[in-house]
Amino acid sequence: MQSDLPYVLSLEQDAQNLPFITPWDRTQHEAAIRFPDFRHFIIEAGEGLEPAGFLILIGCRSQHQSLELKRMVVQRKGQGYGRAALRVAKRVAFEDLNAHRFWLDVKQRNTRAKAFYDTEGFVVEGVLRDAVRTRLHDGSMGHDSLVVLSMLRSEYAQRRTQGLELRV
Ligand SMILES: CC(C)(COP(=O)(O)OP(=O)(O)OC[C@H]1O[C@@H](n2cnc3c(N)ncnc32)[C@H](O)[C@@H]1OP(=O)(O)O)[C@@H](O)C(=O)NCCC(=O)NCCS
Repeated sequence: MQSDLPYVLSLEQDAQNLPFITPWDRTQHEAAIRFPDFRHFIIEAGEGLEPAGFLILIGCRSQHQSLELKRMVVQRKGQGYGRAALRVAKRVAFEDLNAHRFWLDVKQRNTRAKAFYDTEGFVVEGVLRDAVRTRLHDGSMGHDSLVVLSMLRSEYAQRRTQGLELRV
């Protein structure tokens, strides 16, 4: 909702997250909420279901059934919220939105997120070398590569039979 956007914008601007994402301005988020091809979610956690992060799916009406996890940010990291949210996102993509392919890109320097997606069954498709100009950890500007990863519907189905995904 529009009322969630200050929280989303503050997470994007947080120095812990900025090196790993390409933040949008408020207008882009507002458009993403309205545009039917996009789904803009708040991750909620804890007993009071407080906001714990957000994620954005795009390509939800893709004729190619190719959905992208455009962005995912968790506020308190390393507590399992990211993994739980990604599993819900996969279920939404494959079960609700009938995805054939669910893909994302991650900055090569983002070793935490890359390891996370690997363990969630995403397969590396390739590397877009020096594709983005970004602020590095030391505060300077430089280029980083993007690693493209995806999961196909058949791979998701196999993981489900192995008990590695949420039950429908
Ligand atoms: C990437 C991110 C969404 C993961 O969410 P999270 O809630 O921190 O992750 P989880 O606690 O569910 O842990 C999932 C995996 O992440 C990795 N991870 C988590 N914390 C880590 C840490 N401090 N160091 C290294 N890896 C870590 C591990 O592989 C972990 O799996 P494990 O606990 O089985 O070893 C979150 O860290 C984040 O918001 N990062 C900044 C923004 C970002 O990079 N977004 C992704 C852009 S593509």
